[in-house]
Amino acid sequence: MTEKDFIPKKDLVYPPSGKVAWKAPSNIALVKYWGKYPAQIPANPSISFTLDASATRTTVTYEKREQPGKDFSFEFLFEGKPKEDFIPKIEIFFERIIPYLPFLKEFHFTIDSANSFPHSSGIASSASGMAALSLCLLEIEKQANPEMEDLYFQQKASFLARLGSGSACRSIAGNLIQWGETPSISQSSNLYGILYPFDVHQNFTNYHDTILLVHKGKKAVSSTVGHGLMTGHPFAAPRFQQAHENLERLQPIFATGDLESFINVVESEALTLHAMMMTSQPYFILMAANTLEIIQRIWQFRKSTRVPISFTLDAGANVHVLYPEADKERCIQFIQDELVAYCENGHYICDRNGRGAQPMVASK
Ligand code: DP6
Repeated sequence: MTEKDFIPKKDLVYPPSGKVAWKAPSNIALVKYWGKYPAQIPANPSISFTLDASATRTTVTYEKREQPGKDFSFEFLFEGKPKEDFIPKIEIFFERIIPYLPFLKEFHFTIDSANSFPHSSGIASSASGMAALSLCLLEIEKQANPEMEDLYFQQKASFLARLGSGSACRSIAGNLIQWGETPSISQSSNLYGILYPFDVHQNFTNYHDTILLVHKGKKAVSSTVGHGLMTGHPFAAPRFQQAHENLERLQPIFATGDLESFINVVESEALTLHAMMMTSQPYFILMAANTLEIIQRIWQFRKSTRVPISFTLDAGANVHVLYPEADKERCIQFIQDELVAYCENGHYICDRNGRGAQPMVASK
């Protein structure tokens, strides 16, 4: 597939008005996307578990304008209230996707979005938010083109979501999603995420991710700025190469359910992501003292009990504690006894691997 495959036919007839709604989950990367080229092309391949509880619900109401305007016409509501801060981000997104959704200037849209996770939890909502919005907009195209096949719908939704936020392309369909061309996965694409095409052992079914909210405020450095700092980074080339190798290493690990090696790849990826931040110019640190306390305690607990509990990090201080379904009781007990004390106001979110976005019934 190329970009051209996502340009719709010219003669589609869109309904004059309507309402569409989707719920899209967040995701947590195991091999991290860090570094990109223009139009959201990743500098290296990544793979993520789709989450379940952390999700965005978006409803888009659309109505044909009397005259298609030069500008886009939309309102954005967050949890039912107008939210101006998001408007520039959506403008940029619409500008990027208009070649692929040419009806965008013909309609007025009311976008109403809400997150399942608390607003100031420090959890990035851009992946789930951009995925849910992309699915809603593509659903409008699908109403004009009902023959659109499911696989094409998923690929195009992921393609559009990527143009909003790179990691959002991994929040569409399926539980384990890979994005970015890499030699070990022939179907892989820089344009959209794909369902991981190889065997996955049942050890990874229902994998848990308890998100410890160490710091709930806004991050000091945004992901977009962080990606930019990989340009000219002294370790960029070996880091990008390492991501390809880690994806290849994961293939037998997923197939055989080798949790020890899984942990080795995933924790190394998390620390490498933060090592890249610490060695950028300008350098920065997003981990907090409690992030390190939690990591140390996870390592001590794993060493003394041999329970395969591990961690990963995204671009922030929060810790994602990962463990298999088979060990959930012991891990939850350990988290409550020893880790929750390091969370801001004791807050954490119990999440797990989910299956992807779902359409919602759009209320009239
Ligand atoms: C550290 O997808 O948020 O979470 O493409 O600029 O919107 P933009 O960045 P974003 O970056 C995510 C970075 C990460 C790793 C990952 O999810 O792979």
